[in-house]
Formats: sequence, C-alpha cells, structure tokens
Amino acid sequence: MSQASKKHKELAEEIRKLDRAYHEEAQPLVSDQEYDRLYRELLDLEQEHPELQTPDSPSQRVGGAPLPHFTSVAHTVPMQSLDNTYSASELEAFVDRIQKALAGEKLGFVIEPKIDGVAVSVRYEKGKFTQGLTRGDGQHGDDITANLRTIRHLPLEIKNKAAVLEVRGEVYYPSAAFEKLNRQREAAGEPVFANPRNAAAGTLKQLNSRLVAKRPLSIVLYGPGELKGVTCATQQEWLELIAQAGLPAPEKTWFAETKAELLAAIEALDAERRKFAYATDGAVVQLNEWRLRKALGPTSKAPRWAIAYKYSAEKAVTTLEDVTFQVGRTGVITPVAELKPVLLAGTTVSRATLHNFEEIKRKDIRRGDHVTIEKAGEIIPAVLGAVLEARTGAEKAIEPPEKCPACDTALVWDGIFLRCPNASCPAQTQRRIQHFAQRGAMDIDGMGESLVEQLVDANLAKDPADLYDLTLEQLSGLERMAEKSAQNVLDGIEASKKADLWRLIFGLGILHVGAGSARALANHFGTLEALENATEEELLKVRDVGEVVAKSIVHWFRKPENLDLLRRLLKAGVNTKALQTAVRTGGTNLAGKTFVLTGTLSEPREDVKERIIAAGGKVASSVSKKTDYVVAGENAGSKLEDAMRLGVRVLSEKEFAKLAEN
Ligand code: IVH
Repeated sequence: MSQASKKHKELAEEIRKLDRAYHEEAQPLVSDQEYDRLYRELLDLEQEHPELQTPDSPSQRVGGAPLPHFTSVAHTVPMQSLDNTYSASELEAFVDRIQKALAGEKLGFVIEPKIDGVAVSVRYEKGKFTQGLTRGDGQHGDDITANLRTIRHLPLEIKNKAAVLEVRGEVYYPSAAFEKLNRQREAAGEPVFANPRNAAAGTLKQLNSRLVAKRPLSIVLYGPGELKGVTCATQQEWLELIAQAGLPAPEKTWFAETKAELLAAIEALDAERRKFAYATDGAVVQLNEWRLRKALGPTSKAPRWAIAYKYSAEKAVTTLEDVTFQVGRTGVITPVAELKPVLLAGTTVSRATLHNFEEIKRKDIRRGDHVTIEKAGEIIPAVLGAVLEARTGAEKAIEPPEKCPACDTALVWDGIFLRCPNASCPAQTQRRIQHFAQRGAMDIDGMGESLVEQLVDANLAKDPADLYDLTLEQLSGLERMAEKSAQNVLDGIEASKKADLWRLIFGLGILHVGAGSARALANHFGTLEALENATEEELLKVRDVGEVVAKSIVHWFRKPENLDLLRRLLKAGVNTKALQTAVRTGGTNLAGKTFVLTGTLSEPREDVKERIIAAGGKVASSVSKKTDYVVAGENAGSKLEDAMRLGVRVLSEKEFAKLAEN
C-alpha cells in the first residue's frame, strides 16, 4: 500500500470513529476544530490522489455535481406551521381552549426553544438517511438531500432501524459563525446577510452542495413526520427517542402542567436562550400526549395542540435625521440612516444601514420620519419602517443621488445597486487603501482610517503602491503626526513588504476574493506571477474557488491599471511568493506540529495562530495526546491542567518565540 493510501485509510477510520462517537454515543472525542482539521486533511489528500476518493469515504458528505434544479417531492405527512402570539393572555386562552375541549384529562405541556432557522424534514429508512425536504408549501417541498448530507451534525446512519423515521427540525447558521461569515463577505466586497436565518436559507438554496459544505450549517430536530415501526406516546418520549437514535435534539426543554408553570417556563427559556448555538425567537408550547393531540386535531393551517409564543425583539423609535451615501471599495453606494441617537439592546445606535434603494422604496421611508429600529441578538440594527401615524407632511422622499458624493461623477445603476464608475474616486481609493493596509491583509501598523483619509486628501496616495513611496517629510507634515509616529508608520510599511503572498492577494481587493480564497490561491499557485497567468479552468481547480470568483480574478488581471499597480508593488519590493511553500517541505520547527494556546498572551491570539499556521503548524482548541505543545500565557486554566495530565510539553511565550525563530 502506498504511503498516501495508508494515510487515507487511517484518516478515514479516525473520522468514522469520531462520527460514531459523536452521533451514536453523544460523546464527542475531539473539538469541532480538531475534527474539521482531520476532515480537511482527508479532503486535501483526496484532491492530490483522486483515486482514494471511494464512495464510502467520509468525504462523500461533500457532495457531487451541482443539480440543474431542485425536485419537488410530496410530503407524506403535511408540514404545518404554528399559530403565533406575543401575548401571555393569548397563551392562557390557548390553554383554556384545550382544557375545555379535553375536559377531564390531565394536561401536560412541553416547552421548547423556537429555533429561528429553516424548517426541514429528514427521512431515515431502516436507519439510513434517505431524503431531506424543505417545507415548501407544506404539501410539497424541495428535495435538498445533497445539501443536508453536508451537515456534519446530521448523521447519515442512526441506531434506530425503524422502517420509516421522518423527523422535522430546523437548519440553522450557528450564531458564532454568522458574524465571521458577514465579516468575510464584507471584506470580499459581497453583500452581508441580514441575520443567521437568512444565511441558512441562502445556503440551503444553493444547487451546488460543494458550496454548502463550506458553510458550517447545523441542525436541530424536534418533531415527528411519517413514522412506521415506531411506538411513542408523548413528546417527551419522542425527544428521548430521537436523542437515543443519535439525532440532534433541543439541548433543553421544559414541562408545565399549569398556566403559572407555563409562564414561568417561558421566562426561564428567555433567560437562557442566548446561550444556545442557534438564534431563537420564541418558545413553542405543545401538548405532551400524542393521544390528546390526535383528539384535538388541526385547523386548516395549524395544529390546535401547539402554539408559538414569540419574544419581542428589542425595538426603539427614533428620528431619521438624514440619509448619507457611503461609497464602498468597489464603488457601490450604500444609503445609511443617520439617526437621532437612541439606546437599543444595551448600545447607543446612531446609524443603521438602509441596504439599498429598493429597500427604501419598498418600506417607503422618508427623511425626517419617525422610524422603528430593531436589534435582536447578533442582528445588525435595521430600520424596520416608518411610523406612519407620526408623519407631519414635512418628510422628504429619499432620492438616489445622481452624482457620487465623493467625486461628483455621474452614478450608474448596476441591477439594484447604484455604483460610482470612476476608478480614481477618492472615496473608493481610500477604502481600497484601507482594505490593503488592514490587519487581516498587509497588516500595516499605524495605517488607520484617518491617516489613509489624510493621505488621499493630500494626494499622497492614489493606490496602495503609493504607500511604499511615502517619505518621512511627507508623513510628518500631516496633522497629528510627530516625527516618531511618522517613523513608526514607515517601519510598518517596510515590514509589510515581507508579508505572505495570501495577504497581498487578499489586500488587492479583487471582488469576491476573501481571506479564505486568498489563502487557497496562494497555496495553490505559490507565486503572484502564476496566479496572474492562470486561466479560468486552472483557477477552478482550487478548492475555494468557484466560477464567480474565477471570472472575477481573470477580469482583474486584465485591467491595465491593476497591472500597473502590480508592477509598482513589485518594484517596491513587496513579497510575491507563498512563504508556506518552504514550510510544506518541513523547513521550520513549527511545521507539522499541533499547538494549543491558552491563557492571556502578550500579543493577540489571532496573530500567534497566524504565525503558527504560516510556519506549517496547526492550532487546535483542546488538548489531546496528539497535541505537541501547549503555549501558556498568564492565568492559564484547565488546558494547562490537561497538558500536565497528558504529559504534553508546555511552553512559555518566551520559549515559544525561541522555537518559532529557528
Ligand atoms: S413544533 C406542526 N417546535 O417554527 C408544527 N416548531 O412558527 C409543529 N419551529 O413550523 C412545529 N422551533 O418550523 C416546533 N421547537 C420547535 C420549533 C418549531 C422552530 C418552527 C417550525 C414551525 C414554526 C412555527
């Protein structure tokens, strides 16, 4: 057996073992990050040796060729929705109605978090996952089996071997990952998602399951669909049954027999729900006993035995004082609401995005309106709409500007977006330079927003390459810039010449190329020159690159002004080679080693992580026998104890620095 196929077998076995422990024994053996790392390693190996990609490889979750469209499939048991209420008295009326209809029965209610995701139905036959559908119109849904297969928390095989076990639940975008996704999209010049549910829905609509596999979607299951060969009498038993089968059930539920207990449970859930991995927008209250549910039956649209109590999102009313227009890096104009400052969900809000002009028109928002703004959990403050009763008649319609607020060039429509077509527009220039210099890209110390603004205003920088021509005199001539800080900035600029290739690629600001794709491109091509000469077909071979990205890259390298920029960056001595290539052949002390960081370090954790990865090492989030080193800062806690217990080598920051140096 070749080296590669041996390694593949080991990895596949390890991953299968972790899968079993996770799903069937509810006993995760490693952290999610560690799992992802092994999984990536498997994918990388299969990319290099396609013959290893057998049908039973765990990689087959990743999905095959894109579908031409989704097939519509009938639900064997319709997927109904629920009645909603925001009021406690309506909830009490719900209990009263049931008590009346079921006089003489002892009632019990189960209270579950109402997950703010996308409703789906997943079907297992004799223990095997066979089909997944969206809700659709409740009678028919789209077949999204391939997309659901990519969700790691959804087992492809379960312990319960019933003839048919169909389970309903919600696919969600984990709250923690959602923020990261939006930050990446923003950096790549792509529109951000309004909330996690939006991100989950947008992802599930993808016909290409390979793209779905790259997003960390997850799932919670709570309800029964079609069942054959399953006996179960209550919701509590059902939740137990699905958890036993290895399916992800809600992590916490409540039980109530009286109205008072019910209200208390709803309050208790409200106090805890922000700790869950998914966004929640209410409590689902349902009758526990299935026999009694059957007796009550449904109305035409919703069951009589359940209701959704929605928590109100935090809202505030304030005045829309003005609308300003922000020019993005690519020239897209975003209307921004300038609000009279108002306290909302613990922060003062004075600005909120209005997204685009379609939205303004749809919501009929006018200058001077009283507007309702909302912020729920991780959601960006948004303007919900105008308070029509408060209108005085003095409000003014918001017209899209005709000219760019920064350079006066006539704006052009590009679909629903308004764009400034002037590539040398100072606002775009400023954003492009800021993007280039930012921490996640070339990481130029001291090059913040206000300095870039001054440089552009003073005509000292028209593109990122100009930064490398700046002199001490020019910088110290600027406002609030003592000679010492000017020197620091110059040092920062000088140091950035050594930045790794992916930072440069990301910093160029090519539309749709985020930090992740930049890394993949740098790894694949090794030099900027190779990337520049790559054809669309070659680009498509890179794991993180799809058609849109590939086209955008080719387009970027065709523009004379971009080639000129590259020529000048090169002349300035900016590094254009992937530093990691040295590493892939095992050239550093950190290469191939797994690190765990713990405690407070003297530099940002992300930076340390970056350095380890750049040198070919790995960073895991929990300590296991496979960890090579634990780097412990101040106040290190349980991970340090784990290291001691497992005999893993512990390094102080100093010792780590030394190791990294060689
Ligand atoms: S039970 C017959 N339980 O919210 C429908 N639904 O607004 C029984 N939802 O249609 C649904 N979390 O898509 C139930 N723990 C939960 C839920 C939940 C979210 C969704 C579901 C439902 C909608 C109602």
